Amino acid sequence: MISINLNGREQLFDVEDDMPLLWLIREEAGLRGTKFGCGIAQCGACTVHIDNQAVRSCMYPAVAAHGKQVNTVETLGSKEAPHALQAAWIKHQVPQCGYCQSGMMMAAAALLKSTPNPSSDDIDTAMTNICRCGTYSRVKAAILDVAKEMSL
Ligand code: FES
Ligand code: FES
Repeated sequence: MISINLNGREQLFDVEDDMPLLWLIREEAGLRGTKFGCGIAQCGACTVHIDNQAVRSCMYPAVAAHGKQVNTVETLGSKEAPHALQAAWIKHQVPQCGYCQSGMMMAAAALLKSTPNPSSDDIDTAMTNICRCGTYSRVKAAILDVAKEMSL
């Protein structure tokens, strides 16, 4: 049995030793915004925040999250009150098929937390998520937009 603060709520989960955190999030907690892509920590579709750091949850053992704070894309914002990144994503029409985008936004949110005014190079270094629809330039434009707003 492990205890995780998931999206602001302490919860207990009975998990197998080899269960990835992504499985706990999707199958045990029923939060489907975090996606399964490659399963080998390459694509970033499964990105969540653990203690405010972007982590690829497909390769992160659920048991290692015991006692930690895990936030998923469901905490970013809502339809009524979107996060600045979600608003910028809409403004720049970033999502195409949309599959990779929750991971993209979670990676971007972690970047802006650690580097509120990122350069183009900072974004290239931090945003290693893969998008089969090729939304990279729109992702960068949206992040730069939010960074500009934050610095005003
Ligand atoms: S599904 Fe986790 S990095 Fe691709
Ligand atoms: S929007 Fe389709 S994979 Fe990124």
